[in-house]
Amino acid sequence: MIPLMKNAFLNEYETKKALSDFIMKADRLSMDAKCAEFEVVFSKKQGRKYGVLFNSGGSANLAILQALKNLGKLKDGDNVGFSALTWSTNTMPIIQMGMNPVAIDCEPSNLNVMSHHLLDRLKDIPMQALFLTNVLGFTGDIDKIRDVCAEKNIILIEDNCESLGTVLPGGKAGNFGIGASFSFFVAHHMSTIEGGMLCTDDEDLSEMLRIVRANGWDRNLTAAQQVKWRTRYGIKSEFEAKYTFYDLGFNFRPTEITGFLGLYQLQFLDENIKKREANYLRFEEIFKNNPDLVYLDHGHIDVLSTFAFPVVCKTPELREKYLSQFSGAGIEIRPMIAGNMQKQPFYKKYAKNMYDLPGSDFLHTNGFYCGNYPELTETDLQTISSCLYKY
Ligand SMILES: Cc1ncc(COP(=O)(O)O)c(C=O)c1O
Repeated sequence: MIPLMKNAFLNEYETKKALSDFIMKADRLSMDAKCAEFEVVFSKKQGRKYGVLFNSGGSANLAILQALKNLGKLKDGDNVGFSALTWSTNTMPIIQMGMNPVAIDCEPSNLNVMSHHLLDRLKDIPMQALFLTNVLGFTGDIDKIRDVCAEKNIILIEDNCESLGTVLPGGKAGNFGIGASFSFFVAHHMSTIEGGMLCTDDEDLSEMLRIVRANGWDRNLTAAQQVKWRTRYGIKSEFEAKYTFYDLGFNFRPTEITGFLGLYQLQFLDENIKKREANYLRFEEIFKNNPDLVYLDHGHIDVLSTFAFPVVCKTPELREKYLSQFSGAGIEIRPMIAGNMQKQPFYKKYAKNMYDLPGSDFLHTNGFYCGNYPELTETDLQTISSCLYKY
């Protein structure tokens, strides 16, 4: 069996050992210094001013919409575009926040929303925000999407949970909008077991994210920020401040284990991305000559930090054939994330507008993926490769 992921961590044994030592020595395991240190180191590596650590990527997604609402930048009923091919907890927060989700089609040849898809949808309906997903390590023409959003006053948010490490000539995936989420769930590019981050250059947003992350209070703000909030609301004593709740929030706090693991795993991240990219390019050498399969275009991407190994067949019948080839070889497979989100039961229940999404329908019926990670052995790589020929 070649599972979707073999280990919980990069360099599993060493990481588990270091984690055990950390836990034995730690005085405190709830959110504290290790989380703060990981936020600084991670956001610096990503090239953003601020990082706010969460207990998952999904909660980071919910938190940024709540924070933008608290700041008055978005409101109930606003139209929020999203990539029709994405993960459930990219789209659900739009509905949970009382906004109107607007599906935007994705391109079968790179799995992502392109600027022409966005412009097409904007002919039907205006948007106040676009919560774009960079799918499975690939992106669309995100620099052009950014320009469209800037021109039309649309807040661009990136869900970069599947594309940590992807680099375009215009910058790193995750650095094109007001903020971007990352996931550190097992099987992502680096793992803190569960965990997520929101990176931004916007100080007000990072401040509000800290309020949203922990109960709506000010405890995790800087001293200057605390003075600002306390003065604004006439909070005179530290005693009172302890239980003053300024705006809507959740408890989405990570633990010190998340912070420790994040810092520890970060040292292996670059090597992991290189191996994933090398594996992908090795598979690509084979499937690019197979007329049954769609070549995935990444000519516009400098570093392709693939999340899994996506396979797109030319017809649903061919997908059946390749699914049985992969399963027959003992390779664990999954649908192409949530496929066309409009087909998901929750979406039909809550969403108002439905659109024609031919590209996402194609990916829904013709795509699937298997794991791609550094622990794949030469035999594993050969087994996957052997399934990519046309027989
Ligand atoms: C695009 C996307 N967004 C959000 C998430 C949610 O991340 P988490 O599992 O950390 O909540 C995922 C998870 O795989 C994802 O693929």
